[in-house]
Amino acid sequence: MEELLRIAIQKGGRLSEKSQAIIESCGIDFAYGGRVLKAKATNFPLEFIFLRDDDIPGYVADGIADIGIVGKNTIDEEGVIVEEVRDLGFSKCRLSIAVPRDMEYTSVKSLEGKRIATSYPRILGEYLQSEGVTADIHTITGSVEIAPTIGLADAICDIVSTGSTLLSNGLKEVDSFYFSSARMIANPELSAEKRVILHKLLMRIEAVQKAKNFKYIIFNLPTQYVDQVSNIFPGLESPTVTPLVEKGWSSVQTVVEESKFWDTLEQLKALGAQGVLVTPIEKFVE
Ligand code: PRP
Repeated sequence: MEELLRIAIQKGGRLSEKSQAIIESCGIDFAYGGRVLKAKATNFPLEFIFLRDDDIPGYVADGIADIGIVGKNTIDEEGVIVEEVRDLGFSKCRLSIAVPRDMEYTSVKSLEGKRIATSYPRILGEYLQSEGVTADIHTITGSVEIAPTIGLADAICDIVSTGSTLLSNGLKEVDSFYFSSARMIANPELSAEKRVILHKLLMRIEAVQKAKNFKYIIFNLPTQYVDQVSNIFPGLESPTVTPLVEKGWSSVQTVVEESKFWDTLEQLKALGAQGVLVTPIEKFVE
C-alpha cells in the first residue's frame, strides 16, 4: 500500500484558509467540503484531517497526524513535543496584555496581584514568572476581551492581530511580549518513508514562498554596462543576456528580491536601462 502522510489543518478560523491555500499553491488537489473532516489528495500522497487548532499539536505529538499546520502560540500553549519544521510566515499575530483605557499601566509590574483573563495561561504564566510578577491568571477559552467590562478580570492577555477587537471593547494594548506565525510541525518519530514525502512537500512550499519574495525583471541595457549588472544583483545566478537587433544594446533577464526592487531600479536606470518589465513569479527553485 502506498505510504501516506497525514496532515492536520484547522477546520475553520484564523489559519484555515491560508493553510489550505498554501497546500493548493503546491499543485496538490484535494476536496474540502466544510463538513467532511477527512480528505485525500488526488495527486500527492497526503491525507488531510480537519481539526480545531488547539488539538493539532497534541494529535501530531501522539502520531495520530504526522504533520500539522498551526500557530506557534498554540504549539507553545499546548506544551507538547513536536518538531517545528518550517515557519510558514502567515497568520502573524502577537500575544499582548491589554487593560481598560482608563487604567494606569506603567510596566508589567502594574499587574502584580491583579486578575488577568486569558486563553494562554501557560505562555502568560511563563512571562509573568520571568518578570517576577505574581498575578491571578483566570483561564477562559474565548471572548476574552469582554472580561474586564463584566468584572471577571482587571486585565487580559490575548492574541492581537489588527487590534480592532481590543479597540471595540474599550481596551488598550500595553505590552506585546510574544510573537507568532503559522508553523509546519511534525511528529519527531516520523518514519523514513514519511520524511521523504514531507521533504517533497517542503520543497514545493519553499518554491512557492521564495517566488513571493522575488520578481522577474527584463530590461534593455547598453551592452557596455552588462558586466556591471552582476554588482547590482549580488548572490544570484548570472543574468541571461541576449543581444538586441539594435547595435550596442542587450536584453537582460534576471530575478530581483522584492524588498530591493526600487533601489535596484534606480541603479539600473543610472546605467541607462530602458523598457524595464517586471512580472511576478509563481514558483522559484534555486
Ligand atoms: C482572536 C483573539 C481576538 C482576535 C484579535 O480570536 O482572541 O479576539 O482574534 O484579532 P484582531 O486584533 O484582528 O481584532 P480569533 O478570531 O482567532 O478566534 P478565537 O476566539 O477562536 O481565538
